[in-house]
Amino acid sequence: MSQIDQLLSSFSENKVVYYALLFALLFGVVKVTILTLKFVSLIADIFILPAVDFTKYGANQGNWAVVTGASDGIGKEFALQLAKRGLSIVLVSRTQSKLEAIANEISSKYKVNTKIVAFDASTDDEENYSALKKSIFDIPVTVLINNVGQSHSIPVPFLETETKELKDIITINNTATLRITQIVAPVIKSSVEKSHKKVKGLILTMGSFGGLLPTPYLATYSGSKAFLQAWSNALAGELSSFGIDVDLVISYLVTSSMSKIKRPSLTIPTAKQFVASTLRTVGRRNGAQERYATNTPYWSHALMHFAIENTVGVYSKFANRMNLNMHKSIRQRALRKQARLAAAKQD
Ligand SMILES: NC(=O)c1ccc[n+]([C@@H]2O[C@H](COP(=O)([O-])OP(=O)(O)OC[C@H]3O[C@@H](n4cnc5c(N)ncnc54)[C@H](OP(=O)(O)O)[C@@H]3O)[C@@H](O)[C@H]2O)c1
Repeated sequence: MSQIDQLLSSFSENKVVYYALLFALLFGVVKVTILTLKFVSLIADIFILPAVDFTKYGANQGNWAVVTGASDGIGKEFALQLAKRGLSIVLVSRTQSKLEAIANEISSKYKVNTKIVAFDASTDDEENYSALKKSIFDIPVTVLINNVGQSHSIPVPFLETETKELKDIITINNTATLRITQIVAPVIKSSVEKSHKKVKGLILTMGSFGGLLPTPYLATYSGSKAFLQAWSNALAGELSSFGIDVDLVISYLVTSSMSKIKRPSLTIPTAKQFVASTLRTVGRRNGAQERYATNTPYWSHALMHFAIENTVGVYSKFANRMNLNMHKSIRQRALRKQARLAAAKQD
């Protein structure tokens, strides 16, 4: 009799109880093995595997990347770091003057070409999309970074969310992202075909912990980013046979004007650090081990994502309640700050 047999038999002589215990034991062993393998894969993704070589996405071969929201924060860093890797850049965002300054910085530092397309994505105007189409139809684009996004100005109950803010978030984060992808992806497909699949295409879309975890007081933003998770994953399935990798990139807070956080910390990287970790690990899961075509690249965000997913779960009441309390308190602080600023203005 094996030791396991002896152990189980010592609990009960009853065959039913014996087999129930045996099943529970085997189930536990399988669960622990899967979790351990996922954790090993997480550690390998974050700390061990070598950086992705962007020549596979056409770097240093005259190819281009389109980056939206490229004039500030994370998008600006994507533009700079892709240019550093040897891709020419089409910079898309709202403010022409900021785009011109970044285009100059990129071309003088990295000796690659740049183009600028300035429009307000919240207008969902056909002219915006035709301008983009016109600027890329004859260039070999291989990379698209869907980074443009808007959140709520401060956390706000859904029932008090202003209609303009609600519409802008959905238009910029969802409608514009989808329309831009419908324009750029065919150009990427054709670039990959013309290279006889020697280069691959890449489409990255910025997700968020706000979309990973349903987030009370940021409900519209949260929903818009959750939409991108499903849409981007579906697109990944559709485009893989054309040699185009599609990933949703998930981030917790990053220092930027959107987050209104200036000082980096262990859990809040700078945009430069965040983008470096994203480009180093494109195509890997990092913290998003459970999810196809999804990457939570920054190391501390990855550990947070993995821990939440494998304990309370992203859709649990517990996670929802924690998030509610956190955003209620951020709203109260933001309202107090607004009141202080208003009082100071009156003095
Ligand atoms: N920062 C975070 O903590 C964080 C966390 C998770 C996910 N994300 C996501 O990461 C992405 C970038 O965020 P960020 O923090 O880098 O933002 P950011 O610093 O505020 O930069 C936003 C960029 O988008 C452009 N933009 C904003 N509204 C636009 C509009 N209506 N039309 C065209 N362009 C517009 C801005 O252009 P102008 O400069 O011309 O206004 C700017 O280039 C977003 O999708 C966001 O949801 C951010």
